[in-house]
Amino acid sequence: MSGLSFTTPTDAELDREAERLLKALLHVECDPRGKKWNHQTCREIAPITLEINHLKKEKDAVLLTHSYVEPEIVYGVGDFKGDSYFLSLKAREAHAKIILFAGVVFMAETAKILSPDATVIVPDRASGCSLADSIDGAGVRKLKALYPDATVVCYINSTAEVKAESDVCVTSGNVYAIVANLPAQRILFVPDRLMADNLRDELQRRGIAKEIISSDGTCMVHDQFTTAQVAAARAQFPGLKVVAHPECTADVAAVADFVGSTGAMMKYVKTTPAPYFLMLTECGLVGRLEVEAPEKHFIGGCRLCPYMKLNSLEKIRDALRAPRPDQIVTLEENLRRRAATCIERMFALTPSE
Ligand code: 13P
Ligand code: SF4
Repeated sequence: MSGLSFTTPTDAELDREAERLLKALLHVECDPRGKKWNHQTCREIAPITLEINHLKKEKDAVLLTHSYVEPEIVYGVGDFKGDSYFLSLKAREAHAKIILFAGVVFMAETAKILSPDATVIVPDRASGCSLADSIDGAGVRKLKALYPDATVVCYINSTAEVKAESDVCVTSGNVYAIVANLPAQRILFVPDRLMADNLRDELQRRGIAKEIISSDGTCMVHDQFTTAQVAAARAQFPGLKVVAHPECTADVAAVADFVGSTGAMMKYVKTTPAPYFLMLTECGLVGRLEVEAPEKHFIGGCRLCPYMKLNSLEKIRDALRAPRPDQIVTLEENLRRRAATCIERMFALTPSE
C-alpha cells in the first residue's frame, strides 16, 4: 500500500474528526499565530490529521511530540507528548518501523541513538537548538584536554557527537539528582552555562561540594526572562506562582516558586492551588496546560522557540508519505554506540519516582 491509498474523507468523517480535535483545542488560548480553534478551523485541518493518522498505521510509525510544538500536532496526531526524558524513554521502547519526532533535531538524533533499527524522521532539518548548536565534538575535546580529571556531563540538548564525547547525559528532570551522586569532584558540564549556574546553586543548597565548569551555551528562549518581569507580575497578581525551567538564569530561578523540567512544571501547576501562574518557558507549554488544566489561569510572559515552531502538519504528512533524505536521521555506527553508552548511563542513574 502507498500513501495514495488514503481515500478522500466524507463530510461525516470530517465532521467527526473536527469534533475530536475540538475537544482538546477548544481550550487553547495561548496561540502565538492568533489562531482561534472552533468547529470550522478544526474542520480545515481534519483532512490532514486524518491522513497523518492513516499513514501512521499504514507505515507502522509512531509520532513523538515535544510539548512546545503546535497544539494541533500534539493533540491531533501525536502518540506520545512530553519532555525530553519521557520522549527518549518512549523512543527507546518503540517497536515501530518509523519514529517521527515532532521536536528538534537533537531529539530525533537521540531517538536514532536509542532505536537504531527504526527509520527516524525529523520534519524540518533546520529545527536546531541554540544550546545544541553552541558546541561540537571538537569543542568538547578541547575542554577535556584542559580538565582531564573532570567527569563530562552533557545536557540532552546536545548533538550526538557531543554525547559521544561525554561520560553521562542528563535532562532538565534528572540533572540535580545525577550530578549530586557522581563520585567526581570536578564536573565539566556542556552546553548550558545557565543550567550549570543553577546546578552549582542547587548542589550548594544540598551541601555538596563540587566544582562545575561549563561551556558557554544558553537557550535563546529561556535566557530572556528577567527578575524585573517576575517582580512586575507579582506586584500585579497577588498570590501568583512563578514556574521556571532550569535553562533560565540563576537570578530568575532564585525568585521562582518552582523550577523543573517541562514535565515537572506541568505537574506542579496541576497540583498547586493558586489564582495565577507565570510560566517562564516556551508558549507551547501554556497551550498544553490550557488543555489539561483548563481551570487554571496563566498570565503573559512566555516566549516562542523558532525551531520548535518549524514543525507543521503539512511537513509531517509529506515526510510520512515519502521522506526526503534530509528528513531521515543517520549516524555513523561507532559514534552512535558511544552516544548510546552516555545516554544509557543516564537511564541507569536516574532515580525512580
Ligand atoms: P524539557 O526536557 O524540560 O522539556 O526541556 C526541553 C527543552 O528544550 C527546553 O527548552
Ligand atoms: Fe533549544 Fe531553547 Fe528551543 Fe529548547 S526552547 S529547543 S533549549 S532553543
